[in-house]
Amino acid sequence: MIHQTQVGIVGAGPAGLLLGHLLHLHGIDSVIVENRSRDYVIDRVRAGVLEQGTVDLLIAMGVGERLTRCGLRHNGLYVSFQRRRHRIDLAELTGGRAITVYGQNEVVRDLIDARTGTGRPLFFEAEDVSIDGTDSSPVIRFRHEGGEHEVRCDYIAGCDGFHGICRQSVPHGDLTIYERTYPFGWLGILAEAPPSCDELVYTHHERGFALFSMRSTSVTRLYLQVPPDEPIENWPDDAIWNEMRTRMTAADGWAPNEGRIIQKSVTPMRSFVAAPMRHGRMFLAGDAAHIVPPTGAKGLNLAASDVLVLARALRGFYDQGRTDWLDEYSDVCLRRTWRAQRFSWWMTSTLHRFPDDGPFDLQRQIADLDYLTGSRAAMTSLAEQYVGLPSEVSFESAGLSGG
Ligand code: FAD
Ligand code: DHB
Repeated sequence: MIHQTQVGIVGAGPAGLLLGHLLHLHGIDSVIVENRSRDYVIDRVRAGVLEQGTVDLLIAMGVGERLTRCGLRHNGLYVSFQRRRHRIDLAELTGGRAITVYGQNEVVRDLIDARTGTGRPLFFEAEDVSIDGTDSSPVIRFRHEGGEHEVRCDYIAGCDGFHGICRQSVPHGDLTIYERTYPFGWLGILAEAPPSCDELVYTHHERGFALFSMRSTSVTRLYLQVPPDEPIENWPDDAIWNEMRTRMTAADGWAPNEGRIIQKSVTPMRSFVAAPMRHGRMFLAGDAAHIVPPTGAKGLNLAASDVLVLARALRGFYDQGRTDWLDEYSDVCLRRTWRAQRFSWWMTSTLHRFPDDGPFDLQRQIADLDYLTGSRAAMTSLAEQYVGLPSEVSFESAGLSGG
């Protein structure tokens, strides 16, 4: 079967679904092709922190109803070291900006519902997805329910994540790769326990980093720094709770509430950028182009800002025939990406213990955190990056009102 469309989108993660809906709002047609099932995509537990700009974008796009109702707005966060929690008042330091805790899987669920409502095509469980013709006449080929499909389009959006095919289809030598891996990963759990604090707690501890977060008033989300590629079998539930208690219990007695663990997994950590984010008529967006270590909570938010820039560029092309915004796409996105890379690297290296670190490094980290939590200037710097730096693309220029 042959499908003719304007933009062929590979991947129905946050980047692909957001782009599809932004294009729909501009009357631009797209086909989304995803190789996993709908349930798999919706159930995948990942990020949870939305920057103010991401929240504003989802609301301006008309997909913020459940987010507004169920998202947990946080005006501050805690940084804990030497068993003391220090609050950083994000809202006060940034003129009222904040973050919202709302699971990535909920964002994806809302966007899939919105896509279904538009009646525009979204194929799940597509097999043997391949792309071709990115230099002149792009096509996406795949099999679906036994049939062969071909999507002929003006442009391809490669929104297929770090392990996808789009970045890998760029000829060797046309991309520059910048990469750093870290000698640790994160063990993440969801527990049936009401959060014991109403804001996030980032904890530095000699035994390694720990993070307290949440998903709702009855579900706590927690992370532990562990060796990279740590088999999850090494961590029975009792061992997880022991380690959480050891790292997170504060001098004032604060500790996370415990409960039944309903999900656990280990994620490796890396910093990665592929440049440029365009090859001919294909644009890379989100994790397909860049990965940040999760400590700065930037991955999902970067995906959202990429597609806002791409949607403006495609709208400029279809409405006015202009190509300058398409030509600028990669540079505009990379500038924000590198700032997020720097922030995520800094959060990661300040809060985690590295295997080669000695007593000097421990004291240096404590001094860094002592300065951070004692200086309004340092806290403001963290706060403005954590809630999200201003976008270079206004909602108005992307065809949305508000923001
Ligand atoms: P993805 O969400 O990866 O979406 C890509 C989509 O493309 C997927 O649905 C995939 O199935 C599909 N796809 C892949 N290959 C193909 C193909 N060949 N054909 C068709 N479809 C394809 N960030 C945080 O801020 N905090 C966290 O705690 C955090 N935890 C994470 C845990 C894990 C295991 C991972 C992988 C990421 C985590 N992130 C976290 C990062 C954040 O989730 C990502 O930055 C975000 O998902 C990026 O969205 P995306 O749409 O670009 O990519
Ligand atoms: C969460 C994830 C992060 O990477 C982070 O920095 C803060 C919170 C979360 O899953 O809630």
